[in-house]
Amino acid sequence: MSVTPTKPIKRVTVHTLEEMKQRGEKISMLTAYDFSLAKIVDDAEIDIILVGDSASNVMAGHETTLPITLDQMIYHASSVIRAVKRALVVVDLPFGSYQGNSKEALVSSIRIMKESGAHAIKLEGGEEVVESVKRIISAGVPVMGHLGLTPQSIYKFGTYAVRAVEKDEADKLIKDAQILQEAGCFAIVLEKIPAELAAQVAAMLTIPVIGIGAGGGVDGQVLVLHDMLGINKDFSPRFMRRYLNLYDQIKDSVEHYIADVKSKNFPNVGEQY
Ligand code: KIV
Repeated sequence: MSVTPTKPIKRVTVHTLEEMKQRGEKISMLTAYDFSLAKIVDDAEIDIILVGDSASNVMAGHETTLPITLDQMIYHASSVIRAVKRALVVVDLPFGSYQGNSKEALVSSIRIMKESGAHAIKLEGGEEVVESVKRIISAGVPVMGHLGLTPQSIYKFGTYAVRAVEKDEADKLIKDAQILQEAGCFAIVLEKIPAELAAQVAAMLTIPVIGIGAGGGVDGQVLVLHDMLGINKDFSPRFMRRYLNLYDQIKDSVEHYIADVKSKNFPNVGEQY
């Protein structure tokens, strides 16, 4: 009897991503927050899975990302980690778990790494969080930066509109990107900024730049899984490409099931003991 050998799975690491940038290969990244969807996304061979604090919106129904707690992020991250064999799993430090001081940022990062088994953390901000970035990296934890539209600061911005359109803000973003690279970040997410500016930052940095609403001139793309699968019907910014219309498909299936139960069409004789 011959056994078909299974292909060994090569894990994506921060070094894999660096090499991908060097050879011009685009990096794919999606969010996931639970075991079942993370398994599908990983089996499809995504490069990075982000356990984003967007879980606050899509999993818990909050209006912003602010309410999600560190314990809740660790719960989501642990579920994802149990499913993933290949992708690099990055977990967002939630609002309030790192802004206090660099020691708090380190303690929160260590909790995520120890209690979930994640591979890296992400945090929002530039110069103002650089001490924390350095301290977390010095403990051996890879850090991904996040600039542009940073949803944890929504009450400061007052709107989810495109960021860094004005020169002052664009200049600060360029400086912040440089600071994060120098501090040791392995990659940076740029959210909702002009495509030209994002391409300029990607060309300037040696670390990968992953965009969301930042055009095609960056090193990779990230989307929120529930948005691209069409589970959320109400969220459709210009940058978001919908690959499925799961809201309608799930609703149709549930309506079909209800009708089968009511009409005594389910279960049939083959579906019982
Ligand atoms: O939380 C999240 O989903 C994110 C992405 C939008 C990059 O930070």
